[in-house]
Amino acid sequence: MSWAIQGKTPWVIAHRGASAYAPENTLAAFRKAYHLGADAVELDVHLTADQVPVVIHDADLKRTTGKAGKVNRMLLKEVKKLDAGSHFGVEFAGEAIPTLDEVIEEIGQKVLFDIELKDLFNPFSKLPEVVARVVQRHHVEDRILFSSFNPIFLTRVKALLPDVMVGLLILPGWYAAWSKSGFLDYQTWDMLIPHYKDILLERVLAQHKIGRKLSAYTVNSKEEVISLLDVGIDGIITNDPILVTGLRRTDDSTRMARAGERAVSG
Ligand code: G3P
Ligand code: CA
Repeated sequence: MSWAIQGKTPWVIAHRGASAYAPENTLAAFRKAYHLGADAVELDVHLTADQVPVVIHDADLKRTTGKAGKVNRMLLKEVKKLDAGSHFGVEFAGEAIPTLDEVIEEIGQKVLFDIELKDLFNPFSKLPEVVARVVQRHHVEDRILFSSFNPIFLTRVKALLPDVMVGLLILPGWYAAWSKSGFLDYQTWDMLIPHYKDILLERVLAQHKIGRKLSAYTVNSKEEVISLLDVGIDGIITNDPILVTGLRRTDDSTRMARAGERAVSG
């Protein structure tokens, strides 16, 4: 399995793991995503004070662990003592914040990864370089998509790993302006990842015409999934992989029929 070869369309990408069923960005959520049939897991990485990439969405620890403080001010051994499971449910008490190494070691051969580079507002961060080294050490370059709202991080990672896929995350409502500016035309981006409300048929068709994939975040309702299937989206980032795997299966023939209708009507 590799990002370069698409199996079923769209890819089902479990947002922070199967975060509808288990605490986000934990091994429990990533295992669940795999068992529910997700093609890929999306996860967020920050660096600890001792420069170890750990999987957590916020720069601050409070929301998911109850502990006040910043990830980048704490050593890995301190981060490892925190409980990132109880906020979701008592049955997940003691679930730790995983390192990126631990996640790749456990499920690196089972699913694809969308590794989102956080630390967005720190231009001195070594996050792209440190994470690229982890990926190289595990020899999983073809299973990784790097994504970020920070385009400079993506160009830095691509300079180190030229064959790895990179996906530019686009903030809600920014697609039109970035498109007009020509910024989206840079060949660095293998994939564009807009907010789902910014996905339009003409945008999908235009990107496909130049051989580029389009995924949408973060999609958690049946209606939204169906409208994205209808315009031929390549990947759907969701908290609930079952929602998309179910519709993707049942919708295949309908979609083909609709695509045929579109072709006939010009
Ligand atoms: O990858 C898409 C999505 O995860 C970006 O938003 O805030 O959930 O990291 P956020
Ligand atoms: Ca994310």
